Amino acid sequence: MTDVDGNRYVDLVSSWGPLLLGHAHPEVIAAVQAAVARGTSYGTPTETEVLLGEEIVARTPVDKVRLVSSGTEATMSALRLARGFTGRAKIIKFAGCYHGHVDALLAQAGSGVITLGIPGTPGVTEATTADTIVLPYNDQAAVTAAFAEYGDQIAAVITEASPGNMGVVPPRDNFNAFLAQTCRDNGALFISDEVMTGFRITRSGWYGVDGVQPDLMTFGKVMGGGFPAAAFGGRADVMAHLAPEGSVYQAGTLSGNPIATTAGLTTLRLATDEVYAKIDETSLTIQRLVSTALDKEGVPHVIQAAGNLFSVFFVESSEGPAEIRDFTGANAQVLPRFTAFFHAMLDAGVYLPPSAFEAWFVSAAIDDDALAALESALAPAARAAAAVQD
Ligand SMILES: Cc1ncc(COP(=O)(O)O)c(C=O)c1O
Repeated sequence: MTDVDGNRYVDLVSSWGPLLLGHAHPEVIAAVQAAVARGTSYGTPTETEVLLGEEIVARTPVDKVRLVSSGTEATMSALRLARGFTGRAKIIKFAGCYHGHVDALLAQAGSGVITLGIPGTPGVTEATTADTIVLPYNDQAAVTAAFAEYGDQIAAVITEASPGNMGVVPPRDNFNAFLAQTCRDNGALFISDEVMTGFRITRSGWYGVDGVQPDLMTFGKVMGGGFPAAAFGGRADVMAHLAPEGSVYQAGTLSGNPIATTAGLTTLRLATDEVYAKIDETSLTIQRLVSTALDKEGVPHVIQAAGNLFSVFFVESSEGPAEIRDFTGANAQVLPRFTAFFHAMLDAGVYLPPSAFEAWFVSAAIDDDALAALESALAPAARAAAAVQD
């Protein structure tokens, strides 16, 4: 990536995930140029929209899929559908999981096992989040307690399939299977948000890893190949409640846009097993380089990965917990150490996600030269992190 001053960077943000193949992949650009030359939007379905939908259905357990333009729209629409289908109001989300800027999902956890939603940003009213129950991630007892108290009012549990928005905090002890079963037992729907993990971790996303069957799923990022395309889908009987077949309204002027679906379809087709294997290998190499550099300077850290997604937690001491399981654990980082590390990396030409609560996104474009540049940036960055006092 080159900035306006001509500085070049190794990019480990990849547009927050979509650019699995790197920037300006020649075949994606050629396909997009051909699509643009035909026309930009028609207000009626196009062939690439249908083909992209079929590709999603083939790779995941969803029976039917509806295309939208952003991950936020996907989760918002999935929640509306879950509420319309069940006739219930409440939803459970987990602290530290991000599902886009849907008002009802911008609720953070307070203390305690069951915390009714407290708006996490000005502009979101308490009424909007009143039906949002926020629970600690990976905490089965908290979920059981919430269902014991509100069971017949809960429309859905929504979770990131493997969270990446509090740093990478994978599900433990079959947490997704537990959520799916608890929802089934209580007549609620299990919504797995694969906007970040979908088509990135494997060709079938996190579903390709744990195989847990959700009632509804949400997708975005990689499926748009760098353009605004996202989707939600799921069980045929649930999706049948969506307008125009059913009565739960959902629509979007540019949904399934032909340029976006062309970029997404081309990206998915180019992402062969070999491409995923290369990205996995590059990701492991980067994790090893980071760990070696931080160890050399005595900087305590924990690296957690979910497939090729990973993040680095700057924990207080090496004697601390070896695993981050939830938002409380993620929050126990020494944030100034991340800040010093991040800026030193940027100064040395490596663009990392500018947050200690974000996954690093590796693309297929990271080659040996990029890895060499990364390795030389890591030495001063590790020293900068080590220089920060608690
Ligand atoms: C898991 C997850 N869900 C939903 C979203 C929202 O997607 P968008 O930014 O396309 O609205 C994001 C964005 O980072 C995400 O990571």
